[in-house]
Amino acid sequence: MSLNRSANDRKSFTNPPSVTLKRPRNDSGNKVTVVLGAQWGDEGKGKVVDLLATESDIVCRCQGGNNAGHTVVVNEKEYDFHLLPSGIISTKCTSFIGNGVVIHLPGLFEEIDKNEKKGLKGWEKRLIISDRAHIVFDFHQAVDGLQETQRQAQEGKNIGTTKKGIGPTYACKASRTGLRICDLMADFNEFSTRVKNLVQQYQSMYPTLKVDADGELKKLKEYAERIRPLVRDGVYFMYDAIHGAPKKILVEGANAALLDIDFGTYPFVTSSNCTVGGVCTGLGIPPAYIGDVFGVSKAYTTRVGIGAFPTEQLNAVGELLQTRGHEVGVTTGRKRRCGWLDLVILKYAHMINGFTAIALTKLDILDVLDEIKVGVAYKINGKRVPYFPANMDVLQEVEVEYETFSGWKTDTSAVRKWNDLPPKAQNYIRFVENHVGVPIKWVGVGKSRECMIQMF
Ligand code: GDP
Ligand code: IMO
Ligand code: MG
Repeated sequence: MSLNRSANDRKSFTNPPSVTLKRPRNDSGNKVTVVLGAQWGDEGKGKVVDLLATESDIVCRCQGGNNAGHTVVVNEKEYDFHLLPSGIISTKCTSFIGNGVVIHLPGLFEEIDKNEKKGLKGWEKRLIISDRAHIVFDFHQAVDGLQETQRQAQEGKNIGTTKKGIGPTYACKASRTGLRICDLMADFNEFSTRVKNLVQQYQSMYPTLKVDADGELKKLKEYAERIRPLVRDGVYFMYDAIHGAPKKILVEGANAALLDIDFGTYPFVTSSNCTVGGVCTGLGIPPAYIGDVFGVSKAYTTRVGIGAFPTEQLNAVGELLQTRGHEVGVTTGRKRRCGWLDLVILKYAHMINGFTAIALTKLDILDVLDEIKVGVAYKINGKRVPYFPANMDVLQEVEVEYETFSGWKTDTSAVRKWNDLPPKAQNYIRFVENHVGVPIKWVGVGKSRECMIQMF
């Protein structure tokens, strides 16, 4: 077999290389700044990204799909982003959806329409989509629902997924039956055949699955033309961004460390790597170009869906955090489960991600509490365990050792400087910093961009 590419293969390259690989113009290259969730999601990543996006040239998503829900509040207007990078509202910023993301095109356009009504303009000049990103079909979403029903019937519990088709799409990617944006950009007949084969495979596994393949293909043909001008070879795009003129590049993590497919509370996790490795594989960039890695954590803990949650408070404290913190999922509208801050998981997330600094959000929600607790260690049979348990049955059983702080009982929502925070709040923040061993760079005291105390 000849290893030379045929003329036909060559024609299929829609994006000829735009850079020569001989010598980068900017020898040291531009490093990317990364924002990652350090708990079970919804830590306030959108807000941190928005803050940094005002000074960024490019904001990238590298994994996940529209299971994410990122809130950004600007000039009292609230935006929620699911597939679009939160940088899309910054008119100076290019938004890039990388190869590691899974894209539901109807969901993407619904999100664009909704945000256009809120005043988003000119997005089509600022959005780039990798041709290697996998496509989420409507039937992936239907299968997500069927799998949840099956789990409930077989095991008496499901995962509590967002039913956005994330698991089935990443499963197709791993089993090499998935379809990518580059396939949609190429021969549509070929694409249709592969989609129909995939539908057949699913229907043999789930006989009750009803799919209108022709209807879905018709819609996809229209979406294909709408995204065609936005599609690029993502590897060349990122190479250019890193080695071209000096640029500030930001990566917006979706989901979070404890939902990571490898390191999270498996099987109650999502299906992508939401930790730092996902930045390299989801964008096609070398590890040497990872710069600052900012971990985002609430000043307490929340979780949506099922799974172990050692510091959960199924009592008045949990209810207060839920109501004061408006802890309702952005994507599914489900109530978030609430509990004390857990430093075992923050340390674990730091071991994997190597945070250079932490953003501690929602400190203001703790303002009314008489007493605040922080989980500092786990015990099994009265003995401290020196690691974060992999097995969910073990994690369910751990006893949490807490450190107790007296509350500051002062409204912090108008505070903008460290020195103006109540000493008891300062003490709480310093404790977290010292225990995790990572500096806290920002403290959040409200929803909007301005409500961030910058420490250094
Ligand atoms: P993400 O998924 O990590 O981007 O977070 P979500 O947007 O899902 O959830 C975070 C919620 O907390 C949103 O409603 C934010 O507007 C809100 N939020 C973020 N930071 C703060 C803060 O410091 N204080 C308060 N009160 N709300 C915040
Ligand atoms: P952001 O980016 C909170 C949770 C779901 C479910 C599990 C699997 O807004 O922080 P999936 O649909 O991904 O297969 O669901 O993961 N989950 C999230 N929880 N925030 C998120 O994203 C989440 N993304 C997924 O609730 O328990
Ligand atoms: Mg969220």
